Amino acid sequence: MDESTVTRGEPYPRCVSTPVVEPVVLLFGGYRLDIPVATDLEDVDAALADPDVALWNPAAHRPGIVPRDRARLWISDRAAWGDDHASWVVRDHDGRVVGAVSVHHLDHAMATGEIGYWLSPAGRGRGLGLAAVVLATRFGFDVLELARIELFHAVENEASCRLALRAGYLHEGTARQSFVYGDGQRHDEHLHARLATDPEPEITLPG
Ligand SMILES: CC(C)(COP(=O)(O)OP(=O)(O)OC[C@H]1O[C@@H](n2cnc3c(N)ncnc32)[C@H](O)[C@@H]1OP(=O)(O)O)[C@@H](O)C(=O)NCCC(=O)NCCS
Repeated sequence: MDESTVTRGEPYPRCVSTPVVEPVVLLFGGYRLDIPVATDLEDVDAALADPDVALWNPAAHRPGIVPRDRARLWISDRAAWGDDHASWVVRDHDGRVVGAVSVHHLDHAMATGEIGYWLSPAGRGRGLGLAAVVLATRFGFDVLELARIELFHAVENEASCRLALRAGYLHEGTARQSFVYGDGQRHDEHLHARLATDPEPEITLPG
């Protein structure tokens, strides 16, 4: 990666710092936002290999390591909350991992963070992405005491844009050629954000 490449969305560094809060599991219906464990390897490996996740969540991918190790590192990084991120997997009724959400790039002096997410094909279209973003956002405001959370997506990613708007993240503008996605190309991105003082979106959590 050359120096001109935007580093936002880089894999979170292995946690050596003290977590800002201890990891917390969030339950909704029969689902949970949970801490990933080693036995999630197969599900995480398959999800990271999904073409849409590989394209729109390139931070999950690390050059030079085999996919299985990439998934292993992903699990250990996300499980080890630091003072820079709080991360969860979305666990289906049967315990399988079908998604992920994280509030990261935490800046406690500024009380800001950024949210990122993906759903595996089996998890999509059930309101789980929306639920995960709304619950993680609430955690960011109520527990991490953030004042503002930003959300970026490639302009072409209409599903992510729809989710962002439904989750109450206002569209604030377009950042030009701001991020290199999984196709190796720079893309324009929408910047969305929510403030702690914005109204909570009215959604029905999946059961
Ligand atoms: C984008 C993504 C997270 C959506 O997750 P999801 O769980 O399927 O979304 P939900 O079921 O919670 O739907 C949320 C909203 O987005 C809309 N939506 C979901 N998929 C859509 C699609 N393919 N096209 C248009 N709108 C879509 C839903 O209709 C819903 O809006 P509504 O309530 O007004 O109907 C998921 O498709 C995904 O992970 N894609 C690949 C990776 C990715 O894009 N990651 C995000 C990077 S910024």
